[in-house]
Amino acid sequence: MIHDPAVTDVREQLRKLVREVRHRAYVPYSKRPEAVVLLLSDGSWIPGVRVESASFSLTIPPLQNAWTTAVALGRRDVVAVVFSEPPDAGTRAFLEGLELSLMGVSADLFVLRSAELAVPCEPLAPFLDQMPDEPPEGIQLAREVATRALAPYSRFPVGCLLQLEDGRCIPGVNVEHPDWTRTLCAERNALGTAVSYGIAPSTWRALFLSCVNDVRGTPCGACRQLLAEHRSDLSVWMDRGSKNPPEHMRVDLLLPGFFVLQ
Ligand code: THU
Repeated sequence: MIHDPAVTDVREQLRKLVREVRHRAYVPYSKRPEAVVLLLSDGSWIPGVRVESASFSLTIPPLQNAWTTAVALGRRDVVAVVFSEPPDAGTRAFLEGLELSLMGVSADLFVLRSAELAVPCEPLAPFLDQMPDEPPEGIQLAREVATRALAPYSRFPVGCLLQLEDGRCIPGVNVEHPDWTRTLCAERNALGTAVSYGIAPSTWRALFLSCVNDVRGTPCGACRQLLAEHRSDLSVWMDRGSKNPPEHMRVDLLLPGFFVLQ
């Protein structure tokens, strides 16, 4: 495999892709952009970039960002991961926790054992097929998206959609990890996907959220902070169960006096 020129070529193409998407990283504090690309079995691929937060520990690492995008899009058929920077021990531990059976072939590249690497083609589109017109439709779709959640530890599936001005919707679900601290919520999942695909916050219209087991569910504090840092006037619609209309709140009203670094 190592001496096969076609395989070497795929690796070089993956490295090129990760270099191309790295500039999308939101790194106003460290100024150190980082990215990963996940190659899927059919050659489509998913970018993930580092998204820093003024509330530093809420920073989303690139691998977690890309993996949670894959789960929300219902595509866990990852056959290779390429990093813009060789992953540190924590990132390698995160990768192992995903149980994808990936094996390191060089410092920056991990591939599925015995898989033939597809030639990278187009990025996987990060959108749902449907475009809801009214808030109740958006909420219904968020409930359906929640079925993709990976929540074996909490058994608390969450689904959301980040709708853009043009009507398209980026899905988000919560994605749990054996190391609970490396779990990501549905809302930050969708936000991280938008940033990784270079979709500017000025084009975000609304977020629809359904915590299917809890009719009083709201975004957690960490999600409120990240949303506020990117789009503090974003509309959030929250599921209040099938007997009630969804509740509407702006992000800056969900987190008055949120922290910013000017
Ligand atoms: N969760 C979300 O996805 N969004 C929120 O705003 C609240 C919490 C998820 C994270 C975790 O998987 C589970 O719900 C329990 O915290």
